[in-house]
Amino acid sequence: MFALSLSDTAELRPLEVWNASEFADHMDRAREHIRPWVGPSFVTEGLAGAHATLSRYAEQTARDGARIFGIWHGGVLVGGVMFVEFNPASGTCELGCWLQPDAEGLGLITLSCRALLDWAFGVRGMHRAEWRCRADNARSADVARRLGMTLEGVLRQSWKIGDTFHDKQVWSILRSESAPARG
Ligand SMILES: CC(C)(COP(=O)(O)OP(=O)(O)OC[C@H]1O[C@@H](n2cnc3c(N)ncnc32)[C@H](O)[C@@H]1OP(=O)(O)O)[C@@H](O)C(=O)NCCC(=O)NCCS
Repeated sequence: MFALSLSDTAELRPLEVWNASEFADHMDRAREHIRPWVGPSFVTEGLAGAHATLSRYAEQTARDGARIFGIWHGGVLVGGVMFVEFNPASGTCELGCWLQPDAEGLGLITLSCRALLDWAFGVRGMHRAEWRCRADNARSADVARRLGMTLEGVLRQSWKIGDTFHDKQVWSILRSESAPARG
């Protein structure tokens, strides 16, 4: 319906409950690639799982909270970006992202996140946007760096996957820093 052009072949669109079947098919292509790096509740299985994830976002969006957007490349859903947290009262939000493997390396996430930051800072008057990733997730940290974010620190062993505790990086950008970084 509404789409933001990212390139000649890629678009960013709201990812909604009616996209559940497409999202489920995409998850089959992305699941094992994203599993080590994202929250377990996002690693959905099947149509019911996809429906549940998109419903959860829709409910939060209805309360002006979290939001999720899909990236279509060549007409195929290949990944997306989200406001994992969106809190207008405190002026803070957190961005997240994922891709299926064959969509990496095209700049789709950086371009999409710039659009989210433009909206958060420029339209919604947010003050601070965060990015949290496993400390060994180099591609994710590279996105934060490209967005002009600052690495604020490491939450030591705060991310438990199986029996392993991973360090988590916290990056952020403030509205006052955002225009040059996005220009
Ligand atoms: C994190 C993740 C989304 C990053 O994907 P990505 O493709 O590296 O990021 P982008 O889409 O911004 O693309 C950047 C790449 O495109 C290139 N690129 C091409 N055109 C570009 C443009 N216009 N703008 C920016 N980068 C561009 C960059 O040079 C970079 O390539 P390189 O890293 O191979 O040198 C992806 O690795 C992924 O899905 N990982 C698993 C899930 C995950 O970690 N999610 C995040 C949890 S915190």
